[in-house]
Amino acid sequence: MERIQNIRQMQERAESLRLSGKRIAFVPTMGYLHEGHLSLIDAAADCDIIIVSIFVNPTQFGPGEDFESYPRDLERDIALAEGRGAHIVFHPSALDMYGGDPLTGVEVASITEVLCGASRKGHFRGVTTVLTKLFHIVKPHVAVFGQKDAQQAAVVLKMVEDLNMDIRIRIAPIVRESDGLAMSSRNVRLEAEDRKNAARLSQILFGIRDVFANGEPLDKLLEEGRAAIRKIPGASLEYLEARSYPELQALKNKDSDANILIALAARFGKVRLIDNVLIPGESGRKEHEKAPGERNAL
Ligand code: PAJ
Repeated sequence: MERIQNIRQMQERAESLRLSGKRIAFVPTMGYLHEGHLSLIDAAADCDIIIVSIFVNPTQFGPGEDFESYPRDLERDIALAEGRGAHIVFHPSALDMYGGDPLTGVEVASITEVLCGASRKGHFRGVTTVLTKLFHIVKPHVAVFGQKDAQQAAVVLKMVEDLNMDIRIRIAPIVRESDGLAMSSRNVRLEAEDRKNAARLSQILFGIRDVFANGEPLDKLLEEGRAAIRKIPGASLEYLEARSYPELQALKNKDSDANILIALAARFGKVRLIDNVLIPGESGRKEHEKAPGERNAL
C-alpha cells in the first residue's frame, strides 16, 4: 500500500491511474478508523483502486468544538486501511491544504441550515469545501459515504448534482456496536456510564421506526422519543426530527412517497453523538430496485 502526503504527488498519481484506465474509489475520513469507516472500503471493492484520505479538517469544526481533542492515530489508521484492502492512504497536512490563505469556499444553501446545521454554523461549508478540494486532488470516479452522517450524505449528493461533479456517490449503511450504538470516532471519549446509556439513543430510534410501521402518527412518536431521550441519565437532547430524504424537507401529511429520515443529535458531557434511521417511501423503494447501492442506503 502506498502512503502519500503531498497534494501534487497525489494528483499526479491519480492522473496516471486514470490514464491507465483504472476506476478510482475514494473514501474520505478524518481518521481514528473503526468498523464503520472500514465498511466503506468494502463498499468500494468493485473499483480497481481504493484511496482513503485521513485529514482532520479544521474548517468544519466551530469555535469551542472538539478539533483539538478529536482522536488521532495515523499509524494505526494506515495499518487498518491497508488490512482492509485500501491501495493508497492520502494524509495531507493542514498547512498544505489551507496554507495559501484561501478566499474560496463551496456552500450548499438551505438544507445545511436544518438538523445539525442549525447548531453547527459553518460546519457544512467546511465539509463541502474540503470535499471539493479532495475530489480535485484524488480525482475519483466513485466516492463512498456513510449513512451515519445522513445530512452530510444528502448535502454531498446535492453539491455533486448542482456543480455537475462527475463522481458517483455511494452511501453505505450504518455500522453499529452490538448494543446498537452507531460506531463513531467520538465514542472513545464517552465516560463508561455514558457509553452504556448512549445505546438508548438507537433503541429509541428503532422503537419509533417500528411503531410508525404499525400506523402511529409520527409527530406523537417524535414527542415521546424526545421525552425518552431527556430521561436518559447524562443525556442532553439537541434535536430529534423527521425529514424527507435526501431532500431534507419538512414532511407533509400523507407524504407516503418520500423516504423518511428520523435523525437525532444528543450530548453526553462534551461528546456530541448523532444517529438516524431511514424509512423508505414508495419512490425510495423503486429507486433502490433500480440502482442498488449506488445512491442511498435504503
Ligand atoms: P468521519 O467522521 O471520519 O467519517 C468518514 C466517513 O465514515 C463518513 O462518510 C461517515 O458517514 C462514515 N461513517 C462514520 N461512522 C460510520 C458508521 N458507524 N457506519 C457507517 N459509516 C460511518 O464524515 C467525515 O469524517 C468528514 O466530514 C469528511 C467527509 C471526511 C470531510 O472532512
